Amino acid sequence: MKTILITGGAGFIGSHLVRLFVNKYPEYKIINLDALTYAGNLENLTDVADAPNYTFVKGDICDRQLIADLFAQYRFDGVIHLAAESHVDRSIEDPDSFLHTNVYGTLNLLAQAKKSWTDTSGKLFYHVSTDEVYGSLGDTGYFTEETAYDPRSPYSASKASSDHLVRAFFHTYGLPVVISNCSNNYGPNQFPEKLIPLVINNIKNKKSLPIYGDGKYTRDWLYVIDHAQAIDTVFHKGKNGETYNIGGNNEWKNIDLVTKMCNIMDKMSGNAPGTNRQLITFVKDRPGHDKRYAIDASKIKRELGWEPSVLPDSGLEMTIRWYLDNITWLENVTSGSYLEYYEKHYAR
Ligand code: NAD
Ligand code: TYD
Repeated sequence: MKTILITGGAGFIGSHLVRLFVNKYPEYKIINLDALTYAGNLENLTDVADAPNYTFVKGDICDRQLIADLFAQYRFDGVIHLAAESHVDRSIEDPDSFLHTNVYGTLNLLAQAKKSWTDTSGKLFYHVSTDEVYGSLGDTGYFTEETAYDPRSPYSASKASSDHLVRAFFHTYGLPVVISNCSNNYGPNQFPEKLIPLVINNIKNKKSLPIYGDGKYTRDWLYVIDHAQAIDTVFHKGKNGETYNIGGNNEWKNIDLVTKMCNIMDKMSGNAPGTNRQLITFVKDRPGHDKRYAIDASKIKRELGWEPSVLPDSGLEMTIRWYLDNITWLENVTSGSYLEYYEKHYAR
């Protein structure tokens, strides 16, 4: 029996993690705290909303009193912290909200965990972070857990800061912590501002597919359910104070990935080959655009036995199929009507 606070559980990765934990661990109590920003959506969790071991709380991780009250009420054994502002382009426009949520929000949770966990046995604060803290790679090499931090966007700088705070609480106060740094995720329920769902949504609406710069920027893509399983593994088997890199061994240059998606979607809708590719449009580059991310995930495989299970081609096809089968979800998140959904189902 454990009581676990998952923050950001209504978002993309968080909702897959909440579903996994609620279904796999009926003996645990899962409390999902989410502010329901534009990226949080309770429609992601309708299938577990009424599960007896699940509670949703709408609220902000920066709210001191709320966090204190929740720790007092539920006496959490573990925190799995995912709540964050997560999109690089938004961080370039508005760094403030990233610093507030990602840094101050994490500090607030850490400070309350430290205060509440006078006896730390059986307790764990798990910070879910990104490989973007390591900066940008050239054509070769991989990020390992020893790679020096070199964040280059306001988003990655805020995540790096929060990682440092988590380690500071481990070293200074003896708070039990683990951190994982994961590569780019894709799959169902990702808000269509990130590359893969944006491309699906734009092809569906016959809108242009913006490729930043020359399109040769490279990302290592991991299917989101593999990430949720990795988080489960790290939470249960990870060693106190350790960091684990998580990746997909699945590098794509953006232009190659988008071309592949165009071809898959041509096939699915019976278009003449090359139809969707005509939508590809090279646009102005993202400022400070990181050239390449690639993860060396050998530590988590060697020490904890996790490796990705979804093959790249089937992951991409499953993802595209999910969006095409869930057009209402896509329309709702792009129109904001999920807020009405929230009012109807959860207003108390
Ligand atoms: P997301 O943007 O889809 O979801 C973030 C969630 O956090 C949303 O539900 C939002 O409502 C909630 N939230 C935002 N601010 C909040 C606040 N102040 N208080 C409470 N809730 C708040 O993000 P995601 O892609 O699911 O990422 C989840 C975590 O994983 C983030 O910490 C991110 O840095 C990390 N991560 C993401 C990726 C990726 O490829 N998406 C890769 C590695 C790590
Ligand atoms: P994104 O999904 O925003 O993730 P991140 O910036 O965290 O890696 O972007 C993935 C890659 O795709 C990145 O190199 C930027 C690029 N990109 C485009 O070329 N066009 C787009 O419209 C978007 C959103 C991203």
